[in-house]
Amino acid sequence: MAAHSHTPANPHTHANPHTHDGIDWSNRLTTFRRADELDAENRRVVARRLVRPLPETPTVVDVGSGAGGMAVALVEALAARGGGTVVLVDAVPELLDAATTAARAAAAYEPKPVHVRPVLADVATERVLDLVGPVDLVWAARVVHHLPDERAAVASLVDALASDGWLALGEGGLEPQFLPWDLGVGEPGLPHRLMAARAEWFVRMKQDIQGVVPLPVGWNVVLTDAGLLDVTAFSYLNDQPAPASSLVKEWAVEQLRWLAEVGADRLHPADRRTVARLLDPDDTAYVGARDDVYLLSASTIHLGRKP
Ligand SMILES: C[S@@+](CC[C@H](N)C(=O)[O-])C[C@H]1O[C@@H](n2cnc3c(N)ncnc32)[C@H](O)[C@@H]1O
Repeated sequence: MAAHSHTPANPHTHANPHTHDGIDWSNRLTTFRRADELDAENRRVVARRLVRPLPETPTVVDVGSGAGGMAVALVEALAARGGGTVVLVDAVPELLDAATTAARAAAAYEPKPVHVRPVLADVATERVLDLVGPVDLVWAARVVHHLPDERAAVASLVDALASDGWLALGEGGLEPQFLPWDLGVGEPGLPHRLMAARAEWFVRMKQDIQGVVPLPVGWNVVLTDAGLLDVTAFSYLNDQPAPASSLVKEWAVEQLRWLAEVGADRLHPADRRTVARLLDPDDTAYVGARDDVYLLSASTIHLGRKP
């Protein structure tokens, strides 16, 4: 697929043919928007931290920008220190449109100019440097693990950095927890069985990526091998205890539906029946109306500086 600047509002309706993992990403837009909203304050803090060491009016790129939550945070962080440019790169037109609209809306509120440039591209087949030129910060969260050759993908991200530029790779952490162990319906322990089914799905999803190259090391090793200095990592919590906001409950319904979908053929029929009750708005066990739903997750950011 050829990369090009992309004008938002492109009416694609088909399942996405441009990524490598068989996931219909455009279908996930509402969920990503909710997750962005729930994580907005954390992302603001992270964005401010990441732009601090950058030169004046820097260029930063958000690779795999999803619904644009971090792009918005980066726009705000750049505006607070005099402006700059945020380039959004994504392979899915619907998501790129949404992220661009969100980032431009945030930029419009800022007194200092922050330019927002969307680029539609598959970063597994196109060099990020060719797409965006040398940049001061590459942010890539939860996208590299969807690419066939993760080491090659990281090398391409590092190539796109100017000297002294930073790579911030959002990968790993702790999967979100949101349900009590005993839900009062079905066998206790359903959250663990859902996570186990999801973990099996993830292995299968990775194995099914065409041309997949194993990555038998952790991200710090990948960043160091890619030639980065000062390699380190930090994690932040998203901790929203019960009784949670209606946004957390809506997110929990979506998350449970998604876990049940990806784990469907690995869950016991009795657990599938329990999930159906938990997802039924007319059932007393409905997750969207429970006061014991919460959100607890951790996200890890791996960092390295180009010499
Ligand atoms: C799990 S979402 C992560 C979104 C966002 N970075 C976040 O952390 O919330 C993965 C994103 O990467 C994009 N993506 C997947 N494969 C891609 C590829 N080969 N090239 C560019 N973008 C890709 C998807 O369209 C989606 O926006």
